[in-house]
Amino acid sequence: MLRSALLTAARSEGIRRTVEANPLTRPVVNRFVAGTAPQAALDVTRELAEQGMSVTLDHLGEDTEDTVQATTTVRAYQQLLAALHRAGLAERAEVSVKLSAIGRLLPSDGDKIALDNARRICESAEAAGTTVTVDMEDHTTTDATLEILADLRADFPRVGAVLQAYLRRTEQDCRDLATKGSRVRLCKGAYSEPASVAFRDKHEVDRSYVRCLKTLMGGEGYPMVASHDPRMVAIASELAARAGRAPGSYEFQMLYGIRPAEQRRLASGGETVRVYVPYGTEWYGYFMRRLAERPANLGFFLRSLLGR
Ligand code: FDA
Repeated sequence: MLRSALLTAARSEGIRRTVEANPLTRPVVNRFVAGTAPQAALDVTRELAEQGMSVTLDHLGEDTEDTVQATTTVRAYQQLLAALHRAGLAERAEVSVKLSAIGRLLPSDGDKIALDNARRICESAEAAGTTVTVDMEDHTTTDATLEILADLRADFPRVGAVLQAYLRRTEQDCRDLATKGSRVRLCKGAYSEPASVAFRDKHEVDRSYVRCLKTLMGGEGYPMVASHDPRMVAIASELAARAGRAPGSYEFQMLYGIRPAEQRRLASGGETVRVYVPYGTEWYGYFMRRLAERPANLGFFLRSLLGR
C-alpha cells in the first residue's frame, strides 16, 4: 500500500512542487544523488574510482514532453561524456539513459526522436571511449525500449539493456538477450505494476530474479547484477562460479548511497562493482522510488521535512 502510494506520488506534479520547495529535504536527497552540477558527478566518479569501483552516471530527468528539454538532456550527456574523457575517467564510467528523458513521450514520432537522440549519446560515448546502458521504465515501455535497444546495438554493440525480474515476461527476455556481446543489467524493478504483467509478491520477485540470473550467468553475454539484496548477491556469486565465470566476466551494480560498505567489500574482494550515480536538478521521481523501496528511508525523510 505504502509503496504504491509513494510510486503514485512520484508522478504527481503537486506533491513534486511541495517536496522540491522544502529546503529541509536536501540533506536526505543528497544521500542518493551526487549533486546538481556535472562537476559533482565527476567528483563522485573520481572518488569511487579511487576506491576501485566503476560508475554509471544518470543525468536525472524523465517523462519529458518537451522537445527543447529532450535536446538539452542529450547535450548534457554529451558534455558529461567529453568531461569524463578529459578527466581520464571514461574507462571507469559509462552513462545510463532513460528514453523518456530524451523524447520517447513526445506527441509525434516519440520513438524515432528517442532513437535518434540515443544514437547521438552513443556516438559521444564511443568517442569518449565508453558506452551507454538504456534504463528500463514502466511495463508499457518495455517493447519499445527493447526495439530501440536492438537498433542501437546494430551500430553500438556494447550498449546495455536493463531487464526487470518483477515482470512475468522477463525470463524469456533474458533468454533472448543472453547472447554473445550483450550486456544485461538485471534488477528487480522499481515501478508500480499490475498483477497481470508483474509478480507482486516479494518472494515471487526474488524467485524470478534467481531464474533470470541462472539464464544470464549460463548464457554468453555479460550479466550486470543490479541488486542490494545480500541473498541475490550471494546467489549471483555462486551461479557465476558454477558457470565457470571469473570476476570481470560479470559485474555487480548498486545505487549511490545504498550499502556503500558492501560495494567496497565486493570491490576489495576482486569483483567488478559499478555504482549508479544520479546527478542533476530533476531528482524528484528517482528519489521517490528510493523511498518506496524502503520504509525506513521514508521515516528519515518525513523527520527532515518536519525539521526534526
Ligand atoms: P530489495 O528491494 O529487496 O532490497 C534488498 C535490500 O537492499 C534491502 O533490505 C535494503 O537493505 C537494501 N535497499 C534496497 N533499496 C534500498 C533503498 N532505497 N534504501 C536503502 N536500502 C535499500 N529499476 C528499474 O525499474 N529500472 C531500471 O533501469 C533500474 N536501474 C537500476 C540500476 C541499478 C544499478 C540498481 C542497483 C537498481 C536499478 N533499479 C532499476 C532499481 C531496482 O529495480 C530496485 O528497485 C532496487 O534496486 C531495489 O531492489 P533490490 O534488488 O536492491 O532489493
